Amino acid sequence: MTENVQVSGYKLVQKIGEGGMATVYLAMQESLDREVALKIMAPTLAANETFREQFMKEGRIAAKLTHPHLMTVHDIGSEKGVYYLASEYLPAGTLRDRMQRLNTAEVLEIVRDVASGLSYAHEMGFVHRDVKPGNIMFRSNGSAVLADFGIAKAIKSVSAATMAGNAIGTPDYMSPEQAQATPVDGRSDLYSLGAVLFECLAGHKPYEAGDAYAVALMHVTEPVPKLPEKLGWLQPLIDKSMAKQPAERFATGDAFVAELDRLLAANPKMDAVMRESRSARRRAVSAAKSSSSTATAPGGRKWIFAIGGIAAAIVLAGLSWWFWHGRAATPAATTIVNVPPPTEPTLTAPSPIPEPAPAADAALVQLDLPTLLSRGSEYFAYGQKNGGEKMSFPPGDNAVDLFHEVLKRDPGNAQATQGLQKIADFYANGAQTALKNGLYTGADVLVESGLRADPKNAALLQLKTQLAKAEGGG
Ligand SMILES: Nc1ncnc2c1ncn2[C@@H]1O[C@H](COP(=O)(O)OP(=O)(O)OP(=O)(O)O)[C@@H](O)[C@H]1O
Ligand SMILES: [Mg+2]
Repeated sequence: MTENVQVSGYKLVQKIGEGGMATVYLAMQESLDREVALKIMAPTLAANETFREQFMKEGRIAAKLTHPHLMTVHDIGSEKGVYYLASEYLPAGTLRDRMQRLNTAEVLEIVRDVASGLSYAHEMGFVHRDVKPGNIMFRSNGSAVLADFGIAKAIKSVSAATMAGNAIGTPDYMSPEQAQATPVDGRSDLYSLGAVLFECLAGHKPYEAGDAYAVALMHVTEPVPKLPEKLGWLQPLIDKSMAKQPAERFATGDAFVAELDRLLAANPKMDAVMRESRSARRRAVSAAKSSSSTATAPGGRKWIFAIGGIAAAIVLAGLSWWFWHGRAATPAATTIVNVPPPTEPTLTAPSPIPEPAPAADAALVQLDLPTLLSRGSEYFAYGQKNGGEKMSFPPGDNAVDLFHEVLKRDPGNAQATQGLQKIADFYANGAQTALKNGLYTGADVLVESGLRADPKNAALLQLKTQLAKAEGGG
């Protein structure tokens, strides 16, 4: 298992884990004769120049973060094309592995630890971007640490450089602004921490749906999830950390901790349990140390949906763009069905998409038919991978407008007609998924986008009827 990888100065002992982007080994750092976790980045990442630059840059920054609840980075480097990061070895497993077995007091203590680590890092100007149970790990003394500062940013830089969106990883804990590929700050991490807290307490993820795209969309549009009744006293912590708007969230990790303390103070019984659990957890962790230190973490469910498959972030970027720039201008826009009103304003316009240029429509007139057609096909292909960008927006510079221009000059042009039909089908598929998951707002937007390409598309018209019925019934 370890025979192919070599890093000077380190003796690889055994593989201890594998993530979507790296393999982690237990290794001996020979100079200091100490155990370390050696993370070897996947060759596909190492082959990417942007990643290499960001990895070194972010790794150096991450190494400057010193806090009891952040994983300590010892070393970062590259050798013969192998990019590695050596950090403290965390023998007691991840929160993902032990989530099911924790009681409420233990859960609260863990999130308190992580919140304090985040507070420090945010103050230093760093955003984690991938707070999730797999990145919350335990020292042998039982304290929780947040791992992988800097790495998420480096990984995301790859997709950002190769395409218009930059979401990667699991959408389960993703903040609405991250799902929309808009800029994030520390409050995005606190949202993710709130989502982790929710899962630990409720026993299931905040939003569950058939695919990553739908889950990401739910973070944007669905109401904050509700804890089981008996844990209702902690709902304010979830409500505030998972608020759709960053401005409504805790401004800092310390504010999160303060609210937790306030809720605990209002529940004196819980406060006492919490104190007791601290020592109990440390005992349990020490006992589990030997067994978990050799276990290879299961890969688990992996959503890697920015590279390759549907770029959920971009679909959302497109959706939100449409909300702000397209929706009001569409006279036939259907009434939104079954949608809680507070969700819509949370959609914000992503920065990378420019304001419609006033002269854009005029520019189309100057293009000849072959150019319109070939550009239309290119835009279609691009839009398929980028959630509709260039397919139906921005105005005047998208496949729908290009194909419509062709039909204006050459009614019945087969290539343009076909192009528009394919675009309509693309949106029909997306709308179907959204509808299946109860995401009426999203489905409605996708249906309208599709109908703009082909007002006669049967699937879209059927979906529109279904949505109208849902409205009548809800
Ligand atoms: N410092 C460490 N000490 C001990 N084990 C570790 C350490 N860092 C990572 N691991 C183990 O290696 C596994 C893979 O880590 P990695 O960060 O590559 O992926 P991940 O965070 O689990 O998932 P993803 O690839 O989706 O980010 C972890 O789940 C954990 O079990
Ligand atoms: Mg990790």
